[in-house]
Amino acid sequence: MTGAILPETGPTLSAQHYTRTAALLHWSIAALILANLVMGFVCAWLELSFEEVIMNLHKVIGLLVLALSLLRLVWRLTHRPPEPVYGGALQRKAAGVVHAALYTLMLALPMSGWLVTSSFPKRHPIRVGLFDLPFLPVGASLPRAILAHGVHEVLSLAMVALVLGHILAALHHHFILRDGLIARMRLGSRG
Ligand code: HEM
Ligand code: HEM
Repeated sequence: MTGAILPETGPTLSAQHYTRTAALLHWSIAALILANLVMGFVCAWLELSFEEVIMNLHKVIGLLVLALSLLRLVWRLTHRPPEPVYGGALQRKAAGVVHAALYTLMLALPMSGWLVTSSFPKRHPIRVGLFDLPFLPVGASLPRAILAHGVHEVLSLAMVALVLGHILAALHHHFILRDGLIARMRLGSRG
């Protein structure tokens, strides 16, 4: 049942929704990115040295984000999303630009972190249980590691800004327009 608690104002968007796979990928990627942003910035701002175990977790989560984002992109390119039936042409264009920028950062942010780790002259293995995840096939270079670290930090800040804008837009739809937009990305039963 969709839209039962929605008021008369505006159309109910939730009748058209993303597939369960798209929603599952959206929410798991979002949770993992938020965990890594908190981990990264809290350690950087408190000037805590990234403990080995935290740093390893950060890298593994980041590479998982990269893998899931590639999957999400393949899914997106092979499955038609629900029609963006809200707002005017400008608002749709803005949503499209923000979504494209989010996809770009979902790939570029982990790639830049992977480049930092792979460029350090003294590389720490990225461990998952008994296995080590691979490094990027690049030689050691401290200047490149420092540059990539700067890029990684700037992309993290850009991600914070975009995600905040994205969440504010979702809350605007939910509480002001009350058009059921968030339900398009629900995980639960489809009706
Ligand atoms: C969702 C993906 C990721 C997010 C959101 C993220 C976020 C962050 C943030 C916010 C910082 C602190 C930046 C600062 O210095 O102010 C950081 C540092 C770092 N990240 Fe990531 N990261 C991600 C993925 C990765 C990956 C995949 C790797 C490596 C495989 C990685 C390696 C690093 C390294 C080496 C640092 C520097 C740690 C230090 O300064 O000692 N990150 N990351
Ligand atoms: C790191 C966090 C997040 C990232 C990277 C992210 C990324 C994205 C992307 C790329 C899309 C476009 C989907 C497509 O059409 O292919 C999207 C859609 C959406 N996101 Fe997020 N998201 C995040 C967090 C959130 C949060 C916290 C909310 C809710 C408060 C949310 C609500 C939505 C909704 C409702 C849509 C569908 C919009 C529509 O139907 O046009 N997202 N998200």
